[in-house]
Amino acid sequence: MLDGFLSESMIGRAREAKLLEVAVHNVRDWATDKHRTTDDRPFGGGAGMVMKCEPVFAAIEQVQSPGCRRIYLTPDGVPFTSALAKELSQQPHLVLLSGHYEGIDQRIRDSVIDQEISIGDYVLTNGTLAAAVVIDALARFIPGVLGDENSLTTESFTSKLLDFPQYTRPAVYRGRSAPEVLLQGNHGEIEKWRHAQQLKKTQQVRPDLLK
Ligand code: ADE
Repeated sequence: MLDGFLSESMIGRAREAKLLEVAVHNVRDWATDKHRTTDDRPFGGGAGMVMKCEPVFAAIEQVQSPGCRRIYLTPDGVPFTSALAKELSQQPHLVLLSGHYEGIDQRIRDSVIDQEISIGDYVLTNGTLAAAVVIDALARFIPGVLGDENSLTTESFTSKLLDFPQYTRPAVYRGRSAPEVLLQGNHGEIEKWRHAQQLKKTQQVRPDLLK
């Protein structure tokens, strides 16, 4: 699931440039039985399977480093935000644990996990895409990953407002013109217009951000 994401585009380039290192591990490699079992039936009954302690403890204990932050991706974790992405981008080493099946043994969470993160109020089939989202969002805060450093300071969430609309050539396309103010080149007026557009958009789709 991660091969394309990790080798293409911005993340691929960031890794080539050694701005970011990512290693992918399979918990199954730490299973010790013949069938390389990583899950089992839940105590107390119920649907689905639960990831077992032994291979996950062994995996994390091998890949962790002193002072690293060990994160479990789960829909019942704290909401992932731009501020958290920025904080994580400043950590020297993260271990991201992606759960499968219905969940993982609580003792893993209690003993070898430092933080639990959810990327949104919906349930994915496993945490791998959530881990990719976390990697992608934090990578943008690593100096050098984005070509244009400006794009971090003006974009959505840095200012707590959503983005203003963008236009490029041609000035008129299929009868629709780009706003006159953007074509005039008066930077004060452009700033004012963009800010007003940000307020309008935020009011429309995310009024909660304005509180
Ligand atoms: N695993 C499954 N759903 C998830 C979510 N919404 N966030 C993080 N990890 C998950």
